[in-house]
Amino acid sequence: MVVDNKISKILIFGGTGYLGKHLVRASIKLGHPTYVYSRPDSNKTDILDEFRSMGVTIIKGMINDHEKLVMAVRNVDVVISTLPYPQVFDQLKIVEAIKLAGNIKRFLPSDFGVEEDRVSVLPPFEAFLEKKRQIRRAIEEARIPYTFISANCYAAYFINYLLRPSEEKDEITVYGSGEAKTVMNSEEDIGIYTIKVATDPRTCNRIVIFRPPTNVVSQRDLISLWEKKTGKTFKKIHIPEEEIVALSQTLPDPDNIPVSIIHSVFIKGVTANFDLKGDDVEASSLYPDLRFSTVDELLDVFRFNPPEPAAAAFE
Ligand SMILES: NC(=O)c1ccc[n+]([C@@H]2O[C@H](COP(=O)([O-])OP(=O)(O)OC[C@H]3O[C@@H](n4cnc5c(N)ncnc54)[C@H](OP(=O)(O)O)[C@@H]3O)[C@@H](O)[C@H]2O)c1
Repeated sequence: MVVDNKISKILIFGGTGYLGKHLVRASIKLGHPTYVYSRPDSNKTDILDEFRSMGVTIIKGMINDHEKLVMAVRNVDVVISTLPYPQVFDQLKIVEAIKLAGNIKRFLPSDFGVEEDRVSVLPPFEAFLEKKRQIRRAIEEARIPYTFISANCYAAYFINYLLRPSEEKDEITVYGSGEAKTVMNSEEDIGIYTIKVATDPRTCNRIVIFRPPTNVVSQRDLISLWEKKTGKTFKKIHIPEEEIVALSQTLPDPDNIPVSIIHSVFIKGVTANFDLKGDDVEASSLYPDLRFSTVDELLDVFRFNPPEPAAAAFE
C-alpha cells in the first residue's frame, strides 16, 4: 500500500523538552514546516537557538494565552503535545483552541508511555494515568482527529536508570524477579515514528503502540546482554515486589509515582503483557523502509556514550 505521509505544518508544545526535542528534529528531518510553542521565560535558550538554525519557527507564548494559542493552531495542520506530566490538564486549553480553530487534521496529546486505556496499575500510577485518560476522552468528545501514542519505555532514560552505564559499579538492582518483559525504544526512534504516524492517514483516530519485537526485553535479558558487552559479571541486588508495593503506599505524593511505575513496568510487565485490540496499530509494522534500533544496538551506543542521567524523580 502506498502511504501518503503528506508534508504538513506541525506545531509542537513542549518541543524543547526531554522528548520534544527529538520530535522537533524528526519533523525537520522529514521535511515538515515545524513550529514550537515555548514559554516567553523558557530557559532552554541553547535548544531554541539550535531549532532556529534548523529553520524551526518559535512561537513565544503562555499556555493560558487563549488568543495566541488559537492563532498558532490556525496556522498549522498537525498539533503534538509533549508537555510534562504536571501540565497534563493544561492540554485542555490546547483542545479548546483546536475546537475553535476547526482546521486541525490531527492532534497527538502528551501520552508517550504505557498504554493507559489497556492497563491497570498501582493506585499512585493509576491516578497519573487517569489524568492522561481524561485528556483522551476530551479529545474524542470534541471530535478532534487524533492519534494516541503508547511509546512505552524511553530506552536511554530507563537503561540508564537500570544499568547506570556511566557509573563504575559492581552491582545492579533488579526489581522483583527480573523476568517480566518490558518494551524499550530509543527516544530518537520515538521522535521519527511519532512524526510519521502524525501524518499517516492509516493512524487517524487510532491508538498506536510502539512495540517492536526486537525491543521486548526483561531486566535479566538486559543485564545478561550488558555483561556480555562489558565483559563484567554484576552482583544482582533484588528488591522484592512487596517492598515496592509498600513504598507505593507509604511514600508521599508524588514520590509514590516512580515506585509505582517501576512496579507496573518492571515487575508486572504492563508494556508487553497485553494483546493489541482490533483497531490498534503496532508502529514497527507500518513502514518497511524504517526500523527501530534494537536494544542490543542501543547498548553498544550507551557503553561508550552513556545517555543523559534519568530524571531526578527516579533517583
Ligand atoms: N515513556 C517514558 O519512559 C517516559 C519517561 C518520561 C516522561 N514521559 C512522558 O513524556 C511526556 C513529555 O515529558 P518530558 O519529560 O519530555 O517533558 P519535559 O522535558 O519536562 O518538558 C517539556 C517542555 O514543556 C515545557 N514546560 C515545562 N514546564 C512547563 C509549565 N509549567 N508550563 C508550560 N510549559 C512547560 C518546557 O518548554 P519551554 O521551556 O520551551 O516552554 C519543557 O521543555 C510526558 O507525557 C511524560 O509523562 C514518558
